[in-house]
Amino acid sequence: MTLSSILVLHGPNLNLLGTREPEVYGTATLASHVATVSAAASRHGISVTDVQSNTEGELVNAIHAANTAHGGIIINAGAFTHYSWAIHDALKSFPGHVIEVHLSNPGAREQFRHISVLAPVVDGTISGFGGLGYSLAVEALVELDSQ
Ligand code: DQA
Repeated sequence: MTLSSILVLHGPNLNLLGTREPEVYGTATLASHVATVSAAASRHGISVTDVQSNTEGELVNAIHAANTAHGGIIINAGAFTHYSWAIHDALKSFPGHVIEVHLSNPGAREQFRHISVLAPVVDGTISGFGGLGYSLAVEALVELDSQ
């Protein structure tokens, strides 16, 4: 699958961005982060589909559907990052590249955020740069696809 389209996945509570703990996550809304991804992707002629869900199974289903529909995935799984082996397993069977993004730097926060169970099955993780992380993730996918 060539990188003509990217799936952008957001997990629980990220629908609240803009008002949720702005001192941690900033004031940009989820829609504005998705717009950032779309603008970065369109510069490379890549289209973007985005899914946000507070439900683990919906994210798993979206990853399964991406297997034949999208060349790459950008995922901010929210708190599922730290314990969802179901999302880990789904990503493991995705044939394209996957970039994990976090707005904050989980490694500098509470202990329970220090582990990502997704990290072993993604190409790399971009954390702590706020919305810039989404543009960087697009550039990473484009670069990985060209190798
Ligand atoms: C987050 C970090 C997670 O620990 C947290 O549960 C989130 C957001 C981030 O983008 O910094 O919901 O993924």
